[in-house]
Amino acid sequence: MVKKTVRDIEVTGERVLVRVDFNVPLENGKITDDTRIKETLPTIRYLRENKAKVILISHLGRPKGKINEKYRLTPVAQRLQELLGVPVIKIDDCLGDKPAAAVKAMQPGEVILLENVRFYPEEEKNDPAFAQKLSLLADIFVNDAFGTAHRAHASTEGVAHFLPAVMGFLMEKEVKMLTKILTAPEHPFMAILGGAKVSDKIGVVKNLLGKVDGLLLGGGLANTFLKAQGYSVGKSPVEEDKIKTAEEIIDLAKSRGVKITLPVDVVIVSEGEETDKIKIVKVDEIPAEGKIFDLGPESIRAFKVALQGAKTIFWNGPLGVFEQKAFAEGTLAIAKAMAEYNLTSVVGGGDTLAAMYKAGVAQKITHLSTGGGASLEFLEGKVLPGLAALSGAVN
Ligand code: 3PG
Repeated sequence: MVKKTVRDIEVTGERVLVRVDFNVPLENGKITDDTRIKETLPTIRYLRENKAKVILISHLGRPKGKINEKYRLTPVAQRLQELLGVPVIKIDDCLGDKPAAAVKAMQPGEVILLENVRFYPEEEKNDPAFAQKLSLLADIFVNDAFGTAHRAHASTEGVAHFLPAVMGFLMEKEVKMLTKILTAPEHPFMAILGGAKVSDKIGVVKNLLGKVDGLLLGGGLANTFLKAQGYSVGKSPVEEDKIKTAEEIIDLAKSRGVKITLPVDVVIVSEGEETDKIKIVKVDEIPAEGKIFDLGPESIRAFKVALQGAKTIFWNGPLGVFEQKAFAEGTLAIAKAMAEYNLTSVVGGGDTLAAMYKAGVAQKITHLSTGGGASLEFLEGKVLPGLAALSGAVN
């Protein structure tokens, strides 16, 4: 359903509570990827230019309803301030006297960032009383946190019931792009799915089988499919309870004329050996102690051939342990190949985005989705609660 955006509402002079997804990766207190912060700048700039009072709210990590110094949003406020080029006032709380006083003192165009909303147990419980208290800080709610739209939490879903509630520009961009590939993709449409677990991707695989022309499977999840096809995958992790599902998916794909491309050779390391002792073997020659870490060169060729001529590609999940140089070739080679083709490419998931940057092709991807779980659930055809709760059709 088309939702109203921040353009469809009068914001001048209003207090606007903006839910953003500033759940960024941190290492020793330093932000290692600020994409999610950068992607919210258009909404924040628009609100400032239109003289709104901007009150930002986000979660960071999973502090489980307790204050955890590691997950304070202070480094995020600093980075946002650098990017915006104007002061960002960080408040160490979401509710109570401090935020109330800070909001009361705000001038149009000013920006406040509240503390990590997951320090409150009520957030993940979507407690209505808590959501209502949050709503009292503002006149309007803008949801720009696409990455968290699949969570029905107080600051993503609950608060939308107490205020006029619209989408921000990032939410709008994500929804438009994912709707396009779900409902009117240019064919051939191929999906590349990797990552550790089959269980995370079953829903999306099933839904996409009715829409894609081909499915390429790599990473840890391919192990379960290889096993379902009768290969022994040695010591590689397999979800035994999903082998039957993998068989069903293979049969369903056949009946729908969707070609599944699986690895034909793989990079392995024998259990107990150092990870520099790599071997490349065919999938029917994986020794009992072998563990799969990446696609082999023949698989890379086969994946490239399968993608040739594609007009739309959706990719979620790395094809090997690309963080380590010895196992990065599969993911990086396919990323580079995809970037050369003239097509619409949509990539989702933190690791997969990191792989695009590592391959040096991020600029060439049509849409880098800031939502991992959210983009998968959207493509599964599920309703995203954070989106559903917003005000409905514009026309
Ligand atoms: C994400 O990184 O996928 C979102 O920020 C949601 O985080 P969560 O999985 O902890 O709810």
